[in-house]
Amino acid sequence: MTHQVRAVVARGKGAPVSLETINVPDPGPGEALVKIEACGVCHTDLHYREGGINDEFPFLLGHEAAGVVESVGEDVTDVAPGDFVILNWRAVCGNCRACQRGRPWYCFSTHNAKQKMTLADGTELSPALGIGAFAEKTLVAAGQCTKVDRAASAAAAGLLGCGVMAGIGAAINTGNVGRGDSVAVIGCGGVGAAAVVGSNLAGAAKIIAVDIDDLKLNTAEKLGATHTVNAKGTDPVEAIRELTGGFGADVVIEAVGRPETYKQAFYARDLAGTVVLVGVPTPEMKLELPLLDVFGRGGALKSSWYGDCLPSRDFPMLIDLYLQGRLDLDAFVTETIALDDIEKAFERMHGGDVLRSVVVL
Ligand code: APR
Ligand code: ZN
Ligand code: ZN
Repeated sequence: MTHQVRAVVARGKGAPVSLETINVPDPGPGEALVKIEACGVCHTDLHYREGGINDEFPFLLGHEAAGVVESVGEDVTDVAPGDFVILNWRAVCGNCRACQRGRPWYCFSTHNAKQKMTLADGTELSPALGIGAFAEKTLVAAGQCTKVDRAASAAAAGLLGCGVMAGIGAAINTGNVGRGDSVAVIGCGGVGAAAVVGSNLAGAAKIIAVDIDDLKLNTAEKLGATHTVNAKGTDPVEAIRELTGGFGADVVIEAVGRPETYKQAFYARDLAGTVVLVGVPTPEMKLELPLLDVFGRGGALKSSWYGDCLPSRDFPMLIDLYLQGRLDLDAFVTETIALDDIEKAFERMHGGDVLRSVVVL
């Protein structure tokens, strides 16, 4: 059987997205059909629509989602119809070299649904990050579904599927922030604000939020930042050093994705500290640093891909913290919108007060 559902499609480079009826096949072996309840709007969706990821139009956008499994293919045992799940874009294989070495968060061979979803005329769709969840239903690999407690709000839970997990994971997984550490977070949009929250969860003693927008800094403060620095009027490197007894922070998380802010992160960290790059740069960006400083300052320069998360380990744990009132995921849901409001959400994305616009179905 094929399901006809409404979905948001990007048909060509830079063209506004359109709401269309698409065909979603019944799940085959290893696949699951998920009824989407909520899906956040992420920068990556906009990058797809701008042709910045690749040219495989038309794209079925949306990838920060939660919903309920409607049906599964034969041989699927990990999830069952009725399960409330968060979708992930890293269904680890279990067999590649990274998985075999016990580091599945680096899995080289993550999988997606094998069957294609199509436009009404049969044209195959490319689902964003192998998900495509600005749709009433989507088809994914069963491993892309992580079951979590049904008591969580879908709008909040879905955000763990991408940006919020990236930020929390940058702090707790990649940066290894620990009790008593000093942390600076440069860029406090959805990802950076989540890094503030992750640092707080991990017991950091000092959490310095840096942004060029006071609204973002206010939010970061509400989410646990102990100090804020507006980098418009102040040199953030000096400010971070001053706030850390002249040393710099133990961990500096860069959540903008630009060479200038990366350099600030590099110099704002203590000797032998850690820099975590979670902001995503564009292909033309270049970084120049004195190699002697890279050597002499020691420590670790790391990048954080999807927060080095392991969905099966991290999603249920974070949802439990959320339900206990120890992790405020609702704070990231700035507004809930309808499927046909995505263009407006793209426009608002860089505005001061939006952490995430979330489509609720
Ligand atoms: N110094 C400090 N903060 C800055 C600077 C700067 N020079 N330039 C921009 N910012 C701030 C913005 O004000 C904004 O609050 O960085 C933040 C970026 O946040 P968003 O645009 O909301 O992006 P977000 O979803 O948080 O993602 C951040 O991570 O996943 C990647 O592609 C994503 O590269 C992006 C980054
Ligand atoms: Zn693997
Ligand atoms: Zn995303």
